[in-house]
Amino acid sequence: MSDSPLRVAIVGLGTVGTGVARVLCEHPDRMTNRAGRPIELRRAVVRDLSKPRDIELPAGVLTTDLDKVIRDPEIDLAVHLVGGLHPAKEILLALLDAGKDVVTANKAIMCEFGAELFERAREKKRTIAFEAAVAGGIPIIATLSQSLQANQITAIEAILNGTSNFILTEMLACGRPFADVLRQAQALGYAEADPTMDIDGTDTAQKLVLLTQLAFGTTVSLSQFTRQGIDALELADLYYAGELGYTVKLLALAKLQNQKLEMHVQPTLVRSDRPLAKVDGPHNMISLVGDVVGQTWYAGPGAGQMPTASAVLADVIDMAIGRAQLTFERMTQQYLSEPFPVQPAEEIASRYYLRFNAVDRPHVFADITHILGKHGISLASVIQHEAPELDENHASSESIVPLVVMTHRTTAGRLQAADGELAELEALRQPRVYMPVAD
Ligand code: NAP
Ligand code: HSE
Repeated sequence: MSDSPLRVAIVGLGTVGTGVARVLCEHPDRMTNRAGRPIELRRAVVRDLSKPRDIELPAGVLTTDLDKVIRDPEIDLAVHLVGGLHPAKEILLALLDAGKDVVTANKAIMCEFGAELFERAREKKRTIAFEAAVAGGIPIIATLSQSLQANQITAIEAILNGTSNFILTEMLACGRPFADVLRQAQALGYAEADPTMDIDGTDTAQKLVLLTQLAFGTTVSLSQFTRQGIDALELADLYYAGELGYTVKLLALAKLQNQKLEMHVQPTLVRSDRPLAKVDGPHNMISLVGDVVGQTWYAGPGAGQMPTASAVLADVIDMAIGRAQLTFERMTQQYLSEPFPVQPAEEIASRYYLRFNAVDRPHVFADITHILGKHGISLASVIQHEAPELDENHASSESIVPLVVMTHRTTAGRLQAADGELAELEALRQPRVYMPVAD
């Protein structure tokens, strides 16, 4: 290990980059002590120099010119904190080509282009570290790639998007509208610059892909498993789930079943007494089951400036002491290992929560149960609250009642087939809500 300073450039000085720079500037002695050598911030690259920043950097550090990093042979490490796919990917490749090791928090490019980025890093004898790409401040990449290496992981169940969990928590606790809570998540720095992928399940799915690669050695693409977000959920579903003893969470699942991987990202009913159900606000939780250790849980802040900076800086220290290089070498070898096949989505079995908006008139319930029965879907319980009687002044208006059904175990394929017929029922109104139950 060298005792010369590790010279660092931050590319992207937004929410996370500012947190990273703040710790480097405010705690240089701590960083030197932990890294075994000084860590020197040489450059911080942004798009717009005129933007107000929450941090004051020494003169000459802030620049819009990425070439000042690329062409500076003294800069050893680039901390890549630019979001989205492009030009984030091209920036990362250019940094590797210029001989820089890279720490990144960008799960989107690690999920979409991980194999290509790893290949380029290996070719250039460089290292990529990405602790902050999954679950913010929770050290889950280190856990999987170092601490649990003696195990075959058999199941991952996780809440991986701070923004979605914050929205679900606030909606349920305060009855606040979805859009209002999303705006607050953006202001608090939890959401992506474009929050679409936070709420449509893509961000969670990208993180699940990364965890699946580490845990099972299987490279999965987003199109291989069901991905649904919280954007179509209504407050009523959170209340009905509560009435049934469950809490709705945007859950990521990857489970080894008969040597195949069952995977999905879906709003899911989690029994309210389970640890996962109790994770509130922008927090994340990951449950990992290993064949040696048994079940373990990891929880903490899954988004936000300083928790994410903590994970980024752990990688910076690991780079300085040489641990990140060793981990990367082992990890990229495992990437090439024998993968498990992914179970087709329609074969995955679960209990389900179903909600229908039905016109309140004879035979509607019988029609629904007839279709479900025809597809072999058996009912476990039903909730239909009494609708107010219409007086003669309103007798001609349509009264809609929510009908909530819990099923016994069935497959996603059967439910999909039944839904095709339910969609034809004249007495059902939109939406039809289906959520799996995690027992
Ligand atoms: P952000 O606040 O939007 O900041 C992005 C930064 O990148 C800005 O400073 C921006 O410059 C700079 N930038 C964008 N395009 C650039 C380009 N072409 N060249 C140079 N600089 C460029 O994003 P963030 O929230 O810090 O997130 C950064 C990364 O961390 C993302 O990949 C995100 O997914 C990941 N992450 C975020 C969190 C979180 O809680 N926020 C948690 C975990 C992981 P300007 O400032 O001039 O616009
Ligand atoms: N937007 C992400 C979230 C940031 O809300 O979880 C952490 O990856």
